[in-house]
Amino acid sequence: MLNNQEFDLWADGYDKSVALAEENDEYPFAGYKKILNIIYNHVLAQAGNCVLDIGFGTATLTTRLYRQGCTVYGQDFSHRMIELAQKKMPKAHLYQGDFSFGLARELTEHQYDSIIATYSLHHLSDPQKVGFLSNLLELLKPNGCIYIGDVAFHTRDELETCRRRMAEMWDEDEIYFVFDELKDAFPQMEFEPISYCSGILYLKR
Ligand SMILES: C[S@@+](CC[C@H](N)C(=O)[O-])C[C@H]1O[C@@H](n2cnc3c(N)ncnc32)[C@H](O)[C@@H]1O
Repeated sequence: MLNNQEFDLWADGYDKSVALAEENDEYPFAGYKKILNIIYNHVLAQAGNCVLDIGFGTATLTTRLYRQGCTVYGQDFSHRMIELAQKKMPKAHLYQGDFSFGLARELTEHQYDSIIATYSLHHLSDPQKVGFLSNLLELLKPNGCIYIGDVAFHTRDELETCRRRMAEMWDEDEIYFVFDELKDAFPQMEFEPISYCSGILYLKR
C-alpha cells in the first residue's frame, strides 16, 4: 500500500501515467476516463452543487466540477497532491488527513450533495470501507449520492478471474470493491460495471 510520501513522489507524473494506462486499456486504470465522465455528469445533474472528494489526487475530476461552479471540499493525505489541486482550485476547501482515521473535523461540519471517491478507497479494508461509508452517508443531503469509481467487481469470482488474468501485475496490497459483498451493509447500493476491472458504486441514504 502506498503511503503519503510515495503519493507525493507520484503526484507530478500521476496524470501522465494514468492516461497511458487508460489509453492502453490496462489494469488498474482501464475505464478511468469513462468513470470520471459518468460521475461528472451525475454530479452536475444533482440539484445542489456542494461536492466532497475523498482522495482527490491531482483533482482531474473535481477541477472540472469546480469550473462549473461547484463548491469543492476534499481530503487527501499527500501534501504534493494537495498543492497541485489547490493551484487548480484556489477556492476549494482542501484538508490533509489519512481517511483510514476518518474525515478531517472541518469536513464533518458540512452536508454534501455529492461525495466522490475515485481510485482511493481501495486503501481501506472491507470492514473499514463499511464504517467509513456509513459515516459518509450521514453527511449526505437528503437527495445526495456517494459515487465510488474504482477497481470493482460484481462478484468475488469476477475479481478472481481478473486477478488470474493480471498475474504478477495484480496489486496484492489493494483491497478492491466486490459489490455482492457490500449488499448486506448497504442494500440500496447500485453497481455499474465500466471495464473488465472497474465500475461505479452508487450509494444513497
Ligand atoms: C490513485 S490516486 C486517485 C486520485 C484521483 N481521485 C483520481 O481519480 O485520479 C489515490 C489518491 O488517494 C490518496 N490517498 C490514498 N490513501 C489515502 C488515505 N489513507 N488517506 C487520504 N488520502 C489517501 C492519495 O494521496 C492519492 O491522491
